[in-house]
Amino acid sequence: MTEEDFARLKGRFLKYVRTYRMGDPSEQRNIALKRTHTLNVCRDMGFICRGEGLDEKDALIARTAALLHDTGRFPQYAKFRTFDDRTSINHGLIGAEVLLKERFLEGLSRSEQSLIIRSVKYHNAYAIPRLDRRAVFFLKLLRDADKLDIWKVMLQYFAQPAQSRAAAAGLGLPEGADVSAEIIPVILENRVVPIALVKSLNDYKLLLLSWVFGINFKTTFRLFSGRHYARDLASCLPQTGEGRRAVLHIEDFVSSCAFTKKELGKRKRKRNKKPVQK
Ligand SMILES: [Fe+2]
Repeated sequence: MTEEDFARLKGRFLKYVRTYRMGDPSEQRNIALKRTHTLNVCRDMGFICRGEGLDEKDALIARTAALLHDTGRFPQYAKFRTFDDRTSINHGLIGAEVLLKERFLEGLSRSEQSLIIRSVKYHNAYAIPRLDRRAVFFLKLLRDADKLDIWKVMLQYFAQPAQSRAAAAGLGLPEGADVSAEIIPVILENRVVPIALVKSLNDYKLLLLSWVFGINFKTTFRLFSGRHYARDLASCLPQTGEGRRAVLHIEDFVSSCAFTKKELGKRKRKRNKKPVQK
């Protein structure tokens, strides 16, 4: 595929999104949220592709998967008025179905189409399914790029007053005073929290933090650390009790990752470097 193919698909995707325009401003905020998220995931995917040294052709496939990854969000919201897959539909599966039904990817090679469709289909799966190596590689790229922007979207959500939030991002969860006890051992075992255990927004914040255990690429980890997502999410959680213990564990995990230390050290050294006097 070529850069022109990507531009054509982007135009088509944005046209598709316009067909889901909602009259009610509070509902339109949810549609706009996913449109903006998509474009940010494309941008973050570009950063990951560059950081990981992908060639131009593979980067185009990865950016296209990013562009189309949340295709299913729009029919999901139109039909169910929620982004909660548990109470509606699996938006990854629906997205893949829409792309096939509407022949979105016509013009790309069969292998390109297959890599993009499978990435979209499984981007939101709890674990990476058994696929061939190349499909797993593109799926991992997409899962990382998606997470990088969801962290940002959710931090903005938590910082906003209720009346200006895109309400569906909170999945209709209540605030909750502390965190659910069942989540703590999952985090202490360095596992991603399954959505089935989430009962409140505080639980959801821990789930978001636990995604750090599922990061696949060094570049993603570097961006995650550099953007201070862990610190900012932790500051939205109760500062005492079991939740705090889980947060401290995650912070330890982040700072013990060898390449984070190396990267942070490198940046510090660069900052401290005195300009050469001529
Ligand atoms: Fe998604």
